[in-house]
Amino acid sequence: MRGPRSSRTQVGIVGAGPAGLLLAHLLALRGIDSVLVELRSRAYCEARQRAGVLEQGSVDLLRAAGLASRLDTEGLEHGGIHLQFGGERQRIDFRELTGGRAVTVYAQTEVVKDLIATRLAAGAAIEFEVTDTEVADLETDRPVLRYTSADGVRHEVTCDAIAGCDGFHGICRPAIPAALQTVREREYPYAWLGILARVPPSTDELIYAHHPRGFALHSLRSPQVSRLYLQVPPGTDVADWPDDKIWAELQLRLGLPGWDLKEGPVLEKSVTPMRSYVSEPMRHGRLFLAGDSAHIVPPTGAKGLNLALADVAVLADALGGLLLDGRGDLADAYSATCLERVWRSTHFSWWMTTMLHASPDADAMETRLQLSQLRYVTGSRAAATSLAENYTGYPPLRAGAALG
Ligand code: FAD
Ligand code: PHB
Repeated sequence: MRGPRSSRTQVGIVGAGPAGLLLAHLLALRGIDSVLVELRSRAYCEARQRAGVLEQGSVDLLRAAGLASRLDTEGLEHGGIHLQFGGERQRIDFRELTGGRAVTVYAQTEVVKDLIATRLAAGAAIEFEVTDTEVADLETDRPVLRYTSADGVRHEVTCDAIAGCDGFHGICRPAIPAALQTVREREYPYAWLGILARVPPSTDELIYAHHPRGFALHSLRSPQVSRLYLQVPPGTDVADWPDDKIWAELQLRLGLPGWDLKEGPVLEKSVTPMRSYVSEPMRHGRLFLAGDSAHIVPPTGAKGLNLALADVAVLADALGGLLLDGRGDLADAYSATCLERVWRSTHFSWWMTTMLHASPDADAMETRLQLSQLRYVTGSRAAATSLAENYTGYPPLRAGAALG
């Protein structure tokens, strides 16, 4: 039997989600070559419905990296969000509270499409539909990436470093000895049922609604397509939620006198569990974890995609130092630098989640505390500023630093 086909690269990247794709691009801008392998097909990666909100710093980073031509024309910049509770809807004005910062609604599917198109136009190869991905020799300065390509050929790539950008269910985090990892985790007693609907949004900005029947969110994708979510029990089967039932529940939870929620054909539906998860440190030898492979936040704060992009901005810098200048200080600081932002976003996402969802065992005390907090956050300038500062991204990402 023939052995694997051997090759050499500087950085082996596992996973073509937003983290892996952006890292490959940021490294290429520095003249660092990489091999990028992905379990799924290109079509699957480009269609997977997920995040929709980019922080100011994420937009600045994509723009500075030359990736924003479609984002700049099709992205919808939002200067605030609405919080709805106790029969009232209050706006938090990000621009006014943060000195001009905003967020942009631009779907993760579009970020991924833009990144894949840019990589392929630059002549880079992305190996889609690989199987049996393995990483080894992580404690040496020649770590190895092995995979079987779609045509059945086994490959062995010798690298200087490996980036584990393979999401929560990937193989890179488990490659770190368990004794060297600390995991902190919280599961929530609810999940989100998300729909994509062909109907113009009924709102100009996102509506986060606290309701006795459970949380609801009205988000958007374009002037023709809306994205909406409902809090449901964990383990909910989408088959138990025909379209009529979803719209009826959204009408109840988002409804306000004098405001109409427009309904339309449902294009996609799925249920997402809610979890906070952080695995520390984010580096083991020459393996660097980035994005969901190292941490998960519940989606209420719109942070997961932004954290993935922020991690690789730091990683590109660290790998540039290590591989181009022979200095290891940025690589040594990588995990601690990222974890500072990760924990801030983890706290913010937990706070938004617990403030807005109805716990299955909530008593009148818990509900009154949530309503008091919502009134405070919409009534006090100091409290509203804290929400606005976190939602638009804290600490603000310095886009220039990621480009070397
Ligand atoms: P992923 O996107 O998970 O990519 C990892 C890739 O690795 C995948 O393509 C996977 O197929 C591949 N892979 C896995 N195993 C292997 C292997 N063995 N070999 C090769 N490849 C492998 N975040 C926000 O910021 N804002 C939001 O509004 C928001 N809303 C969300 C709504 C929902 C319903 C969900 C589910 C998530 C949301 N998120 C949001 C979170 C965000 O989508 C994720 O944090 C983001 O996808 C993380 O990117 P990533 O590149 O780290 O991981
Ligand atoms: C989305 O548009 O998918 C979205 C928006 C805000 C969130 C989560 C998801 O907090």
